[in-house]
Amino acid sequence: MSNPKLDFVDLKTQYAALKGPIAERMQRVLDHGQYIMGPEVAELEERLAAYTGARHCITVASGTEALLIALMALDLKPGDEVVTTAFTFAATAEMIVLLGGVPVFVDIEPDTCNIDVSQLEAKITPRTRAIMPVSLYGQAADMDEINAIAQRHGLPVIEDAAQSFGADYAGPDGKSRKSCNLSTFGCTSFFPSKPLGCYGDGGAIFTSDDRLAQACREIRVHGQSARYTHTRVGVGGRMDTLQCAIVLAKLERFDWEIERRLAIGARYNELLAGRLPVVAQRPGRTSVFAQYTVFVDDRPAVQASLIAQGIPTAVHYPRPVHRQPAYAAHAPAGGCPQADQVAERCLSLPMSADLSAADQDRVIGALAVAARR
Ligand SMILES: Cc1ncc(COP(=O)(O)O)c(C=O)c1O
Repeated sequence: MSNPKLDFVDLKTQYAALKGPIAERMQRVLDHGQYIMGPEVAELEERLAAYTGARHCITVASGTEALLIALMALDLKPGDEVVTTAFTFAATAEMIVLLGGVPVFVDIEPDTCNIDVSQLEAKITPRTRAIMPVSLYGQAADMDEINAIAQRHGLPVIEDAAQSFGADYAGPDGKSRKSCNLSTFGCTSFFPSKPLGCYGDGGAIFTSDDRLAQACREIRVHGQSARYTHTRVGVGGRMDTLQCAIVLAKLERFDWEIERRLAIGARYNELLAGRLPVVAQRPGRTSVFAQYTVFVDDRPAVQASLIAQGIPTAVHYPRPVHRQPAYAAHAPAGGCPQADQVAERCLSLPMSADLSAADQDRVIGALAVAARR
């Protein structure tokens, strides 16, 4: 077959490389039988906290749950406003609304697709309780500028880092830090296709605030400060021991995978230079390319041409959140024109640490033909 279908995210080759450590880690859990809050949970939390530099890591049931628990730890009340981006996966705004809060959408920078900080401060009101930027596609948002605005207004910042675990960020001081350790909270996802994924749902909250960390730990287990002492209202939001074991096994080659993702992203950039616009990277920041995204005209035709050549693509996202029926009531006056434009033109390409140079060439060659560049 001349055009075998590529995987959009190749988890099979990764599994083949890690089969031994994954089996070993899972067997250990099956042997000790502590499926809930077993020793792998604390081990993973320690490893991930050390990796990011944050003082605390609290594993939770998913990236969505991480956002929910962080907002609950901040005691978000009905009517409280949270300033966030209009261009993200719905979960970001969903957890605000679920708690009765009001998402206040800000438009995006058309090149990075992250929140446009120049429009952020004007959205802050006396009812604002938090700022929630998203480090979209794997690159941190303008976290220093966001933190400075937050500080001026006495607000906490939750980085929705579901797509950016492993990314580096250097602010104006030139010091490099890890995504998830850039603000009050960092919340990530271990959804299987994420740069660090498990084999089901999982997520984590990072913070260096001892009081907030304790609140998250309690909220994660039904608000218990001690067994059967329910000090606050919480949720059943734990990450399974088996999923923690899988992430621990995957950490064995995570540094290598991140290097590969960076290199493949750089190579895609090089091959596309002068042909097609791609999501921009800011100096001093890496993207871990949870998605490698380009901008095309006539996206349906480009997608059809690529899939005919065995190359799957995806759209992150076809509609900004404020245009989704569930959130349209919160659409800002004047809309979010940049988010609208990006939603029409964005197209994500296959990206995995194991994507060979030949397959990278195949993707770009086919894309150049499909987009007639
Ligand atoms: C930006 C963003 N926020 C939140 C989430 C939710 O994460 P999860 O699927 O682990 O609940 C995702 C996952 O796709 C995401 O991309």
